[in-house]
Amino acid sequence: MEEKILLVDDDSIIREVISDILEAEGYQVMTGANGVEALDILGSAKDIGVVICDIKMPKMGGEEVLRKIHFLYPLIPVIMLTGFVDLETALEVMRRGAFDYLAKPVDDDRLLDLLKKAFAHRDKMKKKFENHIKREKMAAVGKLLTGIVHNLNNPLTTISGYTELLQRKYPENEALKKISIQISRMNEIIDNMMYKTSQGQNRGKKAININRLLTEELKFLEADLNFKHNIEKVVDLNPSLPEIIAEYNDLSQSFLNVIENSVDAMYRSKVKRLTITTALNNGSIMVKFGDTGDGIKEEDIPRLFDPFFTTKPLKGEEEGKPTGTGLGLYSCYQLLQPYGANFEIKSKVGKGTDFSILLPINKEPMQESCNGTV
Ligand SMILES: Nc1ncnc2c1ncn2[C@@H]1O[C@H](COP(=O)(O)OP(=O)(O)O)[C@@H](O)[C@H]1O
Ligand SMILES: [Mg+2]
Repeated sequence: MEEKILLVDDDSIIREVISDILEAEGYQVMTGANGVEALDILGSAKDIGVVICDIKMPKMGGEEVLRKIHFLYPLIPVIMLTGFVDLETALEVMRRGAFDYLAKPVDDDRLLDLLKKAFAHRDKMKKKFENHIKREKMAAVGKLLTGIVHNLNNPLTTISGYTELLQRKYPENEALKKISIQISRMNEIIDNMMYKTSQGQNRGKKAININRLLTEELKFLEADLNFKHNIEKVVDLNPSLPEIIAEYNDLSQSFLNVIENSVDAMYRSKVKRLTITTALNNGSIMVKFGDTGDGIKEEDIPRLFDPFFTTKPLKGEEEGKPTGTGLGLYSCYQLLQPYGANFEIKSKVGKGTDFSILLPINKEPMQESCNGTV
C-alpha cells in the first residue's frame, strides 16, 4: 500500500519540487498551501502517515499547525521545513513535538531518510497505542465479567440443586438431562472466570523453576488416559534457566490451558506429538508448546485471546469432539500479563501450531493487574 504524506507549504514551487521527489519514491502526496487547508485535509483523509510542514506561512503559522496536529492526531509525526536553520529554531521546533526538521533547499537524501524514520516511528507508536487500548479493553471486560459472573453464581447453585432433586425423581427424563448439561457448562465458565479473583492479591509469590513446574504438570496430566497413551511427548528443557518470581498457579494454570488447546487440536491428527521446549531468549524465558494439530487460520489469530472466542463446539453440542468455552487463552492473558508476558504464535493449517510464552526474567508482577480482573 502506498504511504500517504501531507505536504504543507505556501510556496507552490516548493510543493511541486518536493512532491515530485516523493512521488518518484512511490509515496502518495497531498498538498496544502496553509495550515487551514492542512487541517481540512487531515480531517477528511484519515490515512495520512506523515506531515511535512513549512514553519513560516500566512494564515496559520507552522508552529500553530504543529500544535494542532499534535493535539488532534498525536500519532502522526510532523517534519518541519525551515528556510534557515539556526540551532535555536531547530531546538524550539523539536521541543514543541516535531519529529524532526529539514532545511530548505531540501536535500533529497536527507528528506527520504527522515521520512523512512518517521514512518518507522509512526508504526512503533501505533503498535504501542493499539496494545495499550487492547490492555485497557481487556481489563474493562474483565471487571464487567467478574461482576456478572459473581451475580450469576448464586441463582445457578439454586437451579443446579433443584435440577438434581428432580433428576433423582425422574432419572430418565431427557429434558432434565439437557438442563443438567447446560448447568455444568455454565459452572465451567463461572469457575474459569472466578479463578483469578479467588487467588487473592499477590498471594504466595516465590522463586519458581519453570522446568520443574512443567515436569510436575506433565505428571499431573498423565492421570488423563488420552494424554498418557495417545499423545507422544517430546520434552526439551534448558537446564540453565533462571528461576522466576511468580505465583505458581498463575503459571501452571496458563500452561495447562495452552497444553489443553494443543491436545484438543490434535484430536483427529494421525501423529499426535506435543513438544515442550524451554529456552532463554533475549532476557526472557521462552516456553514453547508445539503440536501437530489442526493449526489456526490466520484470520483467527488476532482473536485468540478475546473472551469467548472459540472454534470448538459447546458442551453437549457435538458428541465426541473437544469442547470449548473460549476462556482458556483469555485467562492465560489475564494471568500472565502482570508478568509482562508476550505470546508468539506460529501456525500452519493442517500441520500444527507453535505457541510460545515469553516471560521476562526478574520482572515481578505489577500490583494493579493482580486484583479485580479475572
Ligand atoms: N494449539 C492450537 N491449535 C489450534 N487452535 C488453537 C490452539 N490454541 C488455541 N487455538 C484456537 O484458539 C481458540 C481459543 O482458545 P481458548 O481461549 O483456549 O478457548 P477454547 O479452548 O475453550 O476454545 C480455540 O477455540 C482454537 O480455535
Ligand atoms: Mg482452551
